[in-house]
Amino acid sequence: MIATAQPQPSKQLPVVNAFTEWDLLEEVVVGVVDNATFPEWHISLKATVPDNMWDLFQRNAGRPFPPERIAAARKDLEELVHILEAEGVTVRRPDALDFRRPIVTPHFTSSGGLYAAMPRDVLLVVGDEIIESPMAWRSRYFEPLAYRALIKDYFRAGARWTAAPKPELRDELYVHDFVDPTEDEPPRYVITDTEPTFDAADFIKFGRDLVVQKSNVTNEFGIRWLQRHLEGRFRVHVVEPRDTHPMHIDATIMPLAPGKLLVNPQRFPKVPSLFRGWDILEAPTPCIPDGHPLYMTSKWINMNLLSLDEKRVVVERSDEPMIAALRRWGFTPIPCNFRNFNTFGGSFHCATVDVRRRGGAVSYL
Ligand code: ALA
Repeated sequence: MIATAQPQPSKQLPVVNAFTEWDLLEEVVVGVVDNATFPEWHISLKATVPDNMWDLFQRNAGRPFPPERIAAARKDLEELVHILEAEGVTVRRPDALDFRRPIVTPHFTSSGGLYAAMPRDVLLVVGDEIIESPMAWRSRYFEPLAYRALIKDYFRAGARWTAAPKPELRDELYVHDFVDPTEDEPPRYVITDTEPTFDAADFIKFGRDLVVQKSNVTNEFGIRWLQRHLEGRFRVHVVEPRDTHPMHIDATIMPLAPGKLLVNPQRFPKVPSLFRGWDILEAPTPCIPDGHPLYMTSKWINMNLLSLDEKRVVVERSDEPMIAALRRWGFTPIPCNFRNFNTFGGSFHCATVDVRRRGGAVSYL
C-alpha cells in the first residue's frame, strides 16, 4: 500500500485556553439577564451602587427588575450573540436560575440572588483552568451555580475546575459603619480581611501575568489565595487606581493588543510602571446621557470592551467618541447596541467570559 500524505490538522488547543484579553477569540460565555432580581440591601452595596439608586434598591429588595428593562437588555444580548457568531465565535449561555429564592446559610440570610448576566465577575478563566470566585456580596453566594452545566461540560472535555474556598460572609467581613473615602483620602474598602474574597472581574490577563486591584469585593486575603494557587504558572501584580468606589478593574484598564492599553484617565492619571513601554490610550470621556439609568456602575462602563483579536473590538453603537478613537488607534470597531444592558451594571467585557482564545503563557509585562 502506498502511504499518501494526509493534511495536518491545525494544532488543537485545550478546550479552555485563556491567557490574554486580545488573542483570537474562539469560544465565549455570554450572560443572560432573565430573572434578574434586586438584591437585598446591605452595607456592601452601599460602597459601589450609585447614591441615586439606593432608594430603588431598598424598596425593591427581592423583587424582579422591571420586565421592560430586562426585555430591552435581553435584546442587546441577542444582538451581541448574533455579532459574535457572525464573527466566527462559538457562544455558550449560562442558566437563568430562580434568583427570587431566599438564601439561607449558617451565617446569613438574603432575600434572594441577583442574576447570571455578568459571567466575568463569577468565573476566572486562567490558562486551562476555570476558577469559581469567592464573591463578597451575599446575594451572589450561589451565582456560580448558573454556570455549573457549562463548567461540567468543559471539565469533561479536559479543563481544570476549581472553586476558591467558599466564603462564610459573616457579619465581621464587612465594615458596618463604612463611609466612602473622598478623592484625597487613601483608599478604604467595605470588606475586611477576615477570609479570602474576590470577584474575577478585578483581574485582567496579560499572558503569564494577571493584574488585580483591591476593591470593595476583592481583599488582600483573596489576592494572596489566588497568588499561591497560581504560583509557578502565573504572576499576580496589584495596582492601585484612584477610585473611591472600586469594584471590577475592567472600567479602569483594558489591554486591547500587546503593548496597547486603554486607560481610564481619571483613575490612572499616572500609569503604573508595570506598563512601561506600552502605548497608553486614554479612554474618551463617556457620552452616556445623564438620564440613562445605570443601576450599578459609573459611566466609565463605556471602556468595558471585548476584543475578538488584536484588531476587532466590540463597542457600544452610540459611543461615537470611543468608535472614532479606536479607529484612530488602528482598531476595527464592531458596533453593537448595548445601552440597555449597561443599565444592569456592565458592558461587553462584563457580559462575557472568554473560554478559549489562541495564544499561550507569553510574558508581556
Ligand atoms: N465598577 C466599575 C465602574 O463603575 C465597573 O466604573
